[in-house]
Amino acid sequence: MDQIETERLLLRPLRETDAPRLVKLANRPEIAHMLASMPHPYSLSDAEDFLGAVRKLPANAANFAITLKGAPDELIGGTGYGPANRDDKPSHEIDFGYWLGLDYWGKGYATEAATAVIRHAFEVNTTEQIDTEHLTINPASGRVLTKTGFVDKGEITCYSQGSGLTRPSRKMVLTRARYLEQKAQSK
Ligand SMILES: CC(C)(COP(=O)(O)OP(=O)(O)OC[C@H]1O[C@@H](n2cnc3c(N)ncnc32)[C@H](O)[C@@H]1OP(=O)(O)O)[C@@H](O)C(=O)NCCC(=O)NCCS
Repeated sequence: MDQIETERLLLRPLRETDAPRLVKLANRPEIAHMLASMPHPYSLSDAEDFLGAVRKLPANAANFAITLKGAPDELIGGTGYGPANRDDKPSHEIDFGYWLGLDYWGKGYATEAATAVIRHAFEVNTTEQIDTEHLTINPASGRVLTKTGFVDKGEITCYSQGSGLTRPSRKMVLTRARYLEQKAQSK
């Protein structure tokens, strides 16, 4: 698995030794309730199950620990993309997600990590389109997606395992064509 350097971050493969730190940061309703498939409360065995699943990801998927450059052993969050499960069934869509420990919010890290992972999806992998969503009550995530080029395709509802609730959400899509167009414009 690759690792990606950005201005302030190192996105690296997850390791078994990340499990305790994963639990410490991820075991928060502010995080789990915004995500589709993060259990809450989040136990050590949840973290171990997740790390086991990441080891078996297919070639069209990638998952990274988000770390600060200079402290690569201490993850501050996670991000990745890969085949989506829609209504508990595998789908042809490529989903994309990210989260940060609460102490790291509001510093632009999610945008920095998302930008790098999107580039990985389109340039290292052969992703044609990324389909994701954010809860309407989570405008910060909507902003990260809009800033990284996603287009709002309208209202849907999404289930969160962490909260047990299905809530209004926005469907967000980034096509390869749009990604390449924006890349050309930014040169
Ligand atoms: C969503 C999340 C990753 C954002 O991380 P972050 O590092 O704070 O994000 P960034 O700083 O890169 O960007 C956040 C943007 O949202 C904006 N924002 C923050 N709170 C907002 C709010 N309540 N309303 C509107 N915009 C808001 C920020 O101003 C910033 O935009 P700007 O750069 O134009 O000013 C983080 O809050 C998180 O981990 N949440 C829980 C998990 C989650 O929601 N994951 C995504 C699921 S779809």
